[in-house]
Amino acid sequence: MSPYRTVQRKRDGFELTPAEITSFMNGYRDGHVAEYQVAAFLMAVFFRGLTTAELHALVEVMLRSGDTVVLDDVPGIKVDKHSTGGVGDKVSLILAPLVASLGVPVPMMSGRGLGHSGGTVDKLESIPGFRTDLTLAAFRAQMKKLGCALIAQTDEIAPLDRSLYALRDVTATVESIPLIASSIMSKKLAEGLDALVLDVKAGNGAFMPEPARAEELARTMIAIGESYGKRVVAYITAMDRPLGTAVGNALEVIESVECLRGGGPADLREVTLTLAAEMVMLGDGAPDRDAARSMAAAALDDGRALERFRQIVRAQGGDVSAIDDTDRLPAAPIRVDVAAARTGTVTAIDVRAIGLAAVALGAGRANLKAVIDPAVGFLVHVKPGDSVERGHAIAQVHAADEDSAARAVTELSAAITIGDGDAAFLPLIGPRITASR
Ligand code: URA
Repeated sequence: MSPYRTVQRKRDGFELTPAEITSFMNGYRDGHVAEYQVAAFLMAVFFRGLTTAELHALVEVMLRSGDTVVLDDVPGIKVDKHSTGGVGDKVSLILAPLVASLGVPVPMMSGRGLGHSGGTVDKLESIPGFRTDLTLAAFRAQMKKLGCALIAQTDEIAPLDRSLYALRDVTATVESIPLIASSIMSKKLAEGLDALVLDVKAGNGAFMPEPARAEELARTMIAIGESYGKRVVAYITAMDRPLGTAVGNALEVIESVECLRGGGPADLREVTLTLAAEMVMLGDGAPDRDAARSMAAAALDDGRALERFRQIVRAQGGDVSAIDDTDRLPAAPIRVDVAAARTGTVTAIDVRAIGLAAVALGAGRANLKAVIDPAVGFLVHVKPGDSVERGHAIAQVHAADEDSAARAVTELSAAITIGDGDAAFLPLIGPRITASR
């Protein structure tokens, strides 16, 4: 089948055969199918969707495009967590050591920031010396020793996803359920895990803002996991406000350490404990979810999770003294408060705009080659529904210079709407989804 014919058939709504999808994607990888044809294919999928059989063929070819990790020599049920991406979402930094400290191995491979959303790898790399580029052998050895390693996805894992994602990013084809589901699940299935907890974000800062669509995305990913014999549980969680207070790499590490010390913002602790309880259950580490949650809360409060994080930081070359005294983390020279323009209620927060403002400040990458500034970012002090008084600080900008700080203050003020009416906002923890239907 010629690539032209495959694109044409998808465009016209015909179901492609698995062999057709495999040959088209392998042709892309080998250079026989042109990038413009793949771009056209992605747009056809964006509008037409994929049938279950087509989706599974796509996942399979993406998953097999690189190495698959085998962690059979690491004892226990290996459980990972993946978030569909958000602003201020530093949960992985807390969750992975926390769950590992409860005896469930967590092989965590994470990404860098994507578009307006931050990435775990960028956050970890704001800890001086911390290396996320472990070899697979070192990854395995650390998994055996500490039950957890926090590494970046390597070029060898699902390389087809990397190329497809970069193409989707520039062809307005990111926000598609089959394309997001195949992208996430092909990477996760290649990582050697046994079970997975998905944190599927809904709200204006999510790739699927509508809760019903977020739920459909969750069910689609669960179906893919089930077809590979993996147990997958998803939660829909709110991304119509940043999670916690801090947005920006070192600032998010500081907030994660606060949470690992038993403190931190209530919403961050709640999402972390909910996901931790689920991971512990999937890892057969507790008799029921309430017990798993109590165990997780205790490990945050008594310092076990923090101690495991310190061990991981040390093992991966990081400076543990910067965890013990977070004043040693990179800090921005300019700090400017954002004052409420009027008295009223916070009726809405444009989370995507806050994420993009953080990227513009230097906390994320405008393009793949850009270098990020680990110190810059925001503290967003308010949530939808909060009452505020004119002139009081609703946020704080941490910037490298006065000009970028001034721009960020304007962007942040515009992103936080203060009005008189009631605020409509999503429940922090939405439905728990365990089945594909
Ligand atoms: N995260 C991914 O890994 N892929 C997507 O398509 C969206 C979010």
